[in-house]
Amino acid sequence: MSDKRVLLIVGGGIAAYKCLELVRLLRKSGIAVRCILTKGGEAFVTPLSLAALSEDRVYQELFSLTDEAEMGHIQLSRSADLVVVAPATADLMARAANGLANDLATTALLATDKPVLMAPAMNVRMWNHPATQRNIATLAGDGISFVGPDEGAMACGEFGPGRMAEPAAIFVAIMERFTQEPVLDLPLKGRRALVTAGPTVEPIDPVRLITNRSSGKQGFAIAQALSALGAEVTLVAGPVALPTPPGVHRIDVETAIQMQAACQAALPTDVAICVAAVADWRPAEEGALKIKKGPDGPPAINLIENPDILAGLAAQGPNRPKLVIGFAAETNDVEAHARAKLTKKGCDWVIANDVTQPGVMGGEANTVLLVTHEGTERWDKAPKSDVAKLIANRIAKALT
Ligand code: CTP
Repeated sequence: MSDKRVLLIVGGGIAAYKCLELVRLLRKSGIAVRCILTKGGEAFVTPLSLAALSEDRVYQELFSLTDEAEMGHIQLSRSADLVVVAPATADLMARAANGLANDLATTALLATDKPVLMAPAMNVRMWNHPATQRNIATLAGDGISFVGPDEGAMACGEFGPGRMAEPAAIFVAIMERFTQEPVLDLPLKGRRALVTAGPTVEPIDPVRLITNRSSGKQGFAIAQALSALGAEVTLVAGPVALPTPPGVHRIDVETAIQMQAACQAALPTDVAICVAAVADWRPAEEGALKIKKGPDGPPAINLIENPDILAGLAAQGPNRPKLVIGFAAETNDVEAHARAKLTKKGCDWVIANDVTQPGVMGGEANTVLLVTHEGTERWDKAPKSDVAKLIANRIAKALT
């Protein structure tokens, strides 16, 4: 790797301190590192630390006489094989997405003809904000790739996606770009996964509907964890207010019938995990006009049963995913009901949770039972992202 060069743009976030370790890892493998430190970045790490670890001078000013004389910003932007932005803050990404060039970092990003890898880092609400998600989609459309963010506890005290990927993970992503092949043998590489998540909504008339309580958080976390292990993931999601996990192919649906059709279209897959809270029934007819209050009192709503998507996937014959996994949301006799569903729906595992426990519905943590044909395991209470990682690792083990 001694002929490779990275231009590292250090943005202004607390995660900037992790860049020092990233520079050390890159230098240790013989990769030359040249740093641009933004004004915000300088609030968190010093130019001296970066210069010492990169063994090069650090560039900071767009209109610096000495910098421009030694190396113009155009040349700087092209002096590397790869441009890495870490931490890529919400502000830096917003400016880059809009083609601004109001400091050295954004000018280099606009002027470069080299591939760009960004490691986003920000507060969870900032990450989830539609503006940030729009900017990410724009940058991805411009050919920029991403590593992370991770999900977990943050320096700001909140919890969720937004934490910068660890230096080791960014290092691996850089090495993959240089070698054009995976450095780590990801256990689900080449595997296809289907995940359903969120509620379905069943219209009664143009303004009313029947739905289930479901935040979609557990399903989205599972899609993200499977993708992180290298799987090609299709996430069929009912209406939820969650961002698409990086690298996941998301299909938005509303009704159970639409969810079933999207799942069928996603086959064949190696694994299917049905986390969605599908409405069991739908109104037999959707009124074309709003039902009005009248002298006859409340209307009777005639319900018919929705297709069971999970049971349908488990009964696909030759197209059946090797592993079909259901979820069971129960309020009592959790294990017995989960075991009954395992048999009734023809799936391989049922992951059961007691939804009477505080914080399960819509919250961040989950306590689950893994019910298989071999037995039952009780897992300790854990954040939904950790439960998702445990499930993804189990799936990887079962498929190899
Ligand atoms: N499921 C499905 N399609 C349906 C109903 C449920 O795919 N029409 C899936 C869910 O995604 C979940 C599993 O079946 O993986 C169990 O869902 P749950 O609501 O717990 O069970 P139900 O089958 O609805 O049974 P009941 O409401 O009687 O508990």
